[in-house]
Amino acid sequence: MRVVFLSPRYPPDMRQFTRGLAEVGVEVLGVGDGSPDGELRRYLSGYLEVPRLLDEDDVIARVHHWLRGHEIDHVLAAWEPLMMTAARLTERLGLPGMSVDTVLGFRDKQLMKERVAAAGLRVPRAQRVSSVADVWRAVEAIGFPAIIKPISGAGSADTYKVTSREELAQILPQMRHVEQAICEEFIAGDEYTYDTVCVGGVPVYESVTQYLPNALEMRSQEWVSPIMMSVRDLTQPHLLPGIELGRGALRALGMGDGMAHMEWFRMPNGECVFGEIACRPGGAGVVDLMNYTGDIDLFREWGRVVTQQRFAAPTARKYNVAMVFKRAQGQGRISAMTGLSEFYDRYRPHIVEDTLLRPGSPRRDWKATLLSDGYLVVRHPDWGTTREMALAAATDVHLYAS
Ligand SMILES: Nc1ncnc2c1ncn2[C@@H]1O[C@H](COP(=O)(O)OP(=O)(O)O)[C@@H](O)[C@H]1O
Ligand SMILES: [Mg+2]
Repeated sequence: MRVVFLSPRYPPDMRQFTRGLAEVGVEVLGVGDGSPDGELRRYLSGYLEVPRLLDEDDVIARVHHWLRGHEIDHVLAAWEPLMMTAARLTERLGLPGMSVDTVLGFRDKQLMKERVAAAGLRVPRAQRVSSVADVWRAVEAIGFPAIIKPISGAGSADTYKVTSREELAQILPQMRHVEQAICEEFIAGDEYTYDTVCVGGVPVYESVTQYLPNALEMRSQEWVSPIMMSVRDLTQPHLLPGIELGRGALRALGMGDGMAHMEWFRMPNGECVFGEIACRPGGAGVVDLMNYTGDIDLFREWGRVVTQQRFAAPTARKYNVAMVFKRAQGQGRISAMTGLSEFYDRYRPHIVEDTLLRPGSPRRDWKATLLSDGYLVVRHPDWGTTREMALAAATDVHLYAS
């Protein structure tokens, strides 16, 4: 089995998916910008360096030319901006995999909602907009508060909640570079993910993670220490409608083999509302979180599923797992940390990972990466205990920069 895998170097978790493919015995031909380091090269049997990885037409032409005379079985990607490139190459080379039209349903947030709503599932009211006049018309129909965001964005980039005409007028100039956007009814409620590994669109592994606070607040308020908590017990009644919503969305959109990452809301009245879905694994630590939940390796299982349509890991959920991201106060290099040794003294047996930047390291751009200035991961079979540890990491551990 020989596959082309787009972007094995970036983002950092793509290296793990490359490893996963290699470990299930697949020959991996990588395509990316920049050159892979020695460790990554061990998992690759070939590599094509391209000048502009996000230039779809250029990448397709170069890969097509590079593969002439070589047989391959799949073209794969696991990073949102390259899902369509992989689908177009798959179609052009006549290989099995999700079609361009199917992937579009996972990329275009209006089309996505139309397809999910057609299956009778609850989605936010929404309108596609491509001009300032469109936005005013849409908001008139939808009402305040509303969300305005790119039609195919990621990582909450250029996403705004607006509560009045004045606020909308203020943010519109900042949206000017976004060609097509979507206006949505704002859904007030807790935000969760529904992550799956699917074979032929049928989930063989399911996982739910709660965002604390909701993703948009995580990404727009620097002082917040964002928490993602994977839920051990998926049979809890308050989660079931969200899981059902997820299963329905996968069917409605024609998911194939691989991982899907959905976000949904649970309103205070118990109603569950679709948020969005992508036909690729969740980013920013979501896969690590799931791995810690059951002591499994979903990077490898992804490789197995996309090449052999087979899932081989146990699905028992042993822990609730919380990942707590920290942002230092101040600019420049990390200069001090407080509360960390006390945190270790209290919770040491339950801390499974600590990537917090230590003094001397330059701060990361918290806007560009949710990883921020590092994170702590804690886990426990009991939800309340996990939540308590996560909140302690969020409120009692501080990083400073100067
Ligand atoms: N209709 C909505 N109601 C409430 N919050 C929303 C809505 N749409 C988006 N958000 C918030 O903005 C975040 C980013 O929007 P999303 O559609 O997930 O885009 P992205 O592809 O950037 O992740 C969501 O995770 C959620 O917190
Ligand atoms: Mg999202």
